[in-house]
Amino acid sequence: MRSSIWRLTRRLQDRSAFYAPSQAWVCRGCQQRLNSTTTSTNEPITVQEHQYETDEWTNAPAQILSSVSRRLHLQKDHPITITRKIIESRFPGFKTHNSLFPVVTTYQNFDSLGFQPDHPGRSRTDTYYVNKNTVLRTHTSAHQADVFRANESDGYLISADVYRRDAVDRSHYPIFHQMEAALTWDSNSLNGESLAKRVWEDLEALPKNSIEVLDENPTIHPERNPLQQEHKQEDVEAIAAHLKKSLENVVVEIFARAAESSKSTTNNVTEAPLKVRWVEAYFPFTSPSWELEVFWQDEWLEVLGCGVVKQQLLNNAGVPTRSGWAFGIGLERIAMILFNIPDIRLFWSQDPRFLSQFSESAQPLVSRFVPFSKHPACYKDISFWLRSSSAAGGMVKGTTSDFHENDFMELVRDVCGDLVEDVRLTDEFAHPKSGRRSMCYRINYRSLERTLTNEETNGMHERVRQALVEKMGVELR
Ligand code: DAH
Repeated sequence: MRSSIWRLTRRLQDRSAFYAPSQAWVCRGCQQRLNSTTTSTNEPITVQEHQYETDEWTNAPAQILSSVSRRLHLQKDHPITITRKIIESRFPGFKTHNSLFPVVTTYQNFDSLGFQPDHPGRSRTDTYYVNKNTVLRTHTSAHQADVFRANESDGYLISADVYRRDAVDRSHYPIFHQMEAALTWDSNSLNGESLAKRVWEDLEALPKNSIEVLDENPTIHPERNPLQQEHKQEDVEAIAAHLKKSLENVVVEIFARAAESSKSTTNNVTEAPLKVRWVEAYFPFTSPSWELEVFWQDEWLEVLGCGVVKQQLLNNAGVPTRSGWAFGIGLERIAMILFNIPDIRLFWSQDPRFLSQFSESAQPLVSRFVPFSKHPACYKDISFWLRSSSAAGGMVKGTTSDFHENDFMELVRDVCGDLVEDVRLTDEFAHPKSGRRSMCYRINYRSLERTLTNEETNGMHERVRQALVEKMGVELR
């Protein structure tokens, strides 16, 4: 769950770092050592029938590449598929693209969308590279320009698997699913009407809803949410209103069902009216931009990102007479809420005790997932001194290291697969004299399907310790 869209504790920091300008450590050294186990140097990679050269940028592990074929959003009766279909049902007439190939160019994933050359989302700590110019898409927006260029419909929807290096916990998995949508109006087909007028008419035709909407900022703010120079304010006001109403309707569709299913099993749910709020945001490919948050179980949940499509993107895609809106939503997060699924790893389970609980023909369509077992967790700590990246070998006060947390996360996944529930930093300090940094992580081992033996857990933990020394050059404490 993911997407910029996951605002819980520090994951907000990881995910939105992807879009907003912020600092990220790029750590080539660690990556190169990690690569030595994940893919062997310069041997081509095959993803389904496609072959790719590899190079010093390659960091996509075999384990991830082999899951490319799973395409959970297309599996019959899978909760991700059901969630996709619920959202699709809100956009009649939109053309759907559900089988776009996940290996894309860095141009598609970043440049076509206006990501700056030094954007942190491009770093090898955040993104899986097949080679220098080729990545596993990190978001469905990677296909926007191509789908606009095909110019087959005013509205389109793209659902797909997306890939990001990230934390290990119950709401993060390196592969997840997003849905992208866009609606544009072509100024050549307005028959003399103004764009604003046409958009307001189309808005009138959308279903009405009665949710409480908090939207306290002006549509356009000169610094925080600027009007694009190619656009007229009255058009953007209309497009933004259409976008917001369309998305409020999506939220009603999802959260009314979620409320219904939790009511059926929980007695103490009070029936408060659904409440949403619009928050100003930044994406390189929209302006103005927003995130939509929903008040759900006593907290504000960030649900999606959206905005008015950058005209430059449409111009470059050969459709300069079009303008309109786009949004992107993470499907796992929504499915977890809809079906009350507690751990993102469950989506990948092939266990019939999981899969048999969902059906596209069930009545009601959405019901609460019943955990089939809760196997015991076992946590173990790991503490280590970071290797310093300075030539002096780490003895200089204040030196930094080339350690990046995502590399550690990946190493744990590499060794333990899905048997780790979460990995958390529990302590970090710098030695007062040498400046060397020490880290302590807690790894929580738990299988979703069986009880792990002590031997097994100890063995895995020992392998993590060894790998950490070998691949990341740390000194265990
Ligand atoms: N691509 C963004 C993400 O991964 C989501 C997004 C935001 C998509 C704004 C959009 C958009 O189309 O307009 O978080």
